[in-house]
Order: sequence, then C-alpha cells, then structure tokens
Amino acid sequence: MERYILQTKNLSKYFKKYIAVNKVSLKVKMGTIYGLLGPNGAGKSTTLKMITGLLHATDGEILIDGERWKRKHLEDIGALIEDPALYGNLTATENLTVHTKLMGLSKDRVNEVLETVDLKNTGKKLTSQFSMGMKQRLGMAIALLGNPKLLILDEPTNGLDPIAIQELRELIRSFPKKGITVILSSHVLTEVSQVVDHIGIISDGELKYQGAISHEEDLEALFMKVVKESKK
Ligand SMILES: Nc1ncnc2c1ncn2[C@@H]1O[C@H](COP(=O)(O)OP(=O)(O)OP(=O)(O)O)[C@@H](O)[C@H]1O
Ligand SMILES: [Mg+2]
Repeated sequence: MERYILQTKNLSKYFKKYIAVNKVSLKVKMGTIYGLLGPNGAGKSTTLKMITGLLHATDGEILIDGERWKRKHLEDIGALIEDPALYGNLTATENLTVHTKLMGLSKDRVNEVLETVDLKNTGKKLTSQFSMGMKQRLGMAIALLGNPKLLILDEPTNGLDPIAIQELRELIRSFPKKGITVILSSHVLTEVSQVVDHIGIISDGELKYQGAISHEEDLEALFMKVVKESKK
C-alpha cells in the first residue's frame, strides 16, 4: 500500500467570507519531492500554513502519515514559509542556538545544518547584514534543525542567484535519500520541473491538477493550460 506522509482532505480556509483555500485534497507520498504550484494569490502559502499549524483550517482534514494532525506532529515537520523569522541582532550560529534551546536539541546540530546550507563562514556577521540569499539559507537551516521527516519550503529560491539555485536544487534532491520528504511551492516552473516528481497545481484556492511528472515534462505548458482553463 502507498504510504502518504501528508494527505489533506477537503482542506479549506476562509478569511471572513473570502475563500482562500477551497476543498484541497493533496496526496504526498513518503520519500518524494512534491511541487505545489500556482499563480500569485492562489492559496499555496495559506495551505502550507495550515499544515504547519500557523493557521487554523476552517474545514477539512490534515493527515500526517495516516494520523489526524496533532501539534505533536510538528516535531517531524520542518518549514520555511515566506520570510524566515530571524533575530537580526544575532549571528547565524546564535540564531540556530536559540532554536536548539527552544526545541530541546543538542547544540551539535547547529554546525551540521550550517554545513548543509553552506553558511559556515559567516562568523560574527549579524543576520541583519545578511543578503537575501543568506537569509533564505539560514531559514532552511532552521527548518532542518529537528531532523524533520517532512520539509516544507515555500518559494525557497526567492532571492537566490543562479548558482545558489543550482546548489539548492542539488540539496533538495539529496533529501529523499536521507528519509526527508519535501513539499516545495513555487511559481518559477523551470526551477521546479527539475527537482519534483509529483505536482499539484492550485488556482483560485482550488486544486486543479495533481499527478506524477517526469523531469522532461513541459511543466510550463501544463501549468498554463490548467490555470487558463480554470479561469474560463
Ligand atoms: N491573513 C489574511 N487575511 C485575508 N486574506 C488573506 C490572508 N492571507 C492570505 N489571504 C488571501 O488569500 C489568498 C491566497 O494567499 P496566499 O498567500 O496563500 O497565496 P500564494 O499562492 O502563496 O501566493 P504567492 O505566490 O503570491 O505567494 C490571497 O488572495 C490573499 O490575499
Ligand atoms: Mg505564497
């Protein structure tokens, strides 16, 4: 039987009367890289925020590895959603140390994750002086601290240069082998098509397409077709 690290069933979010997410049913297989795609304002971040407990769902269900979502599941979920929350007056190491304390983790993890995201050489530089790409990497390091089984990355390539994007792609590709399933949202289709093996396309709060894709697939053509058809 297929094992799903995450399933949502008719997940919905209303902001007063506005329907931001409408009956979205995602299926994310264990050990895969899942791309959640959709135009600006489609409902990607809102969906991911419900999964990570940052927002309450108005309706529907979230299952983590077959169990109904509980706060305890967050121990197995690492997330970087929108901009990482960093203490600008602290260094990368200090920011991570704060999180290890909050999460009750060993301090050894700090150097391990700094190594993973290639931020070991930032020394005494305060994060308020970090470039956008450096902030993104540090956000990713925070998401990895607790050795998550599910890593959720919302637009992880925001502000990264082409070399950093290439490195990040390789890093993301290495996660399933380490037992980490990845959900990645983006509207930059060329970036996604080379890393993901399953996609979901959200438009106007609704899941319009979900399926496996090959790395050769013309994702842009599929995306345009699905999104334009849904606007008719
Ligand atoms: N706190 C909020 N209150 C009211 N409306 C909200 C709130 N958060 C999001 N929305 C609305 O919900 C819709 C979906 O927003 P969301 O941030 O999930 O989109 P997105 O797919 O992540 O877009 P982007 O690609 O621009 O990041 C948008 O119309 C947005 O304005
Ligand atoms: Mg968003």
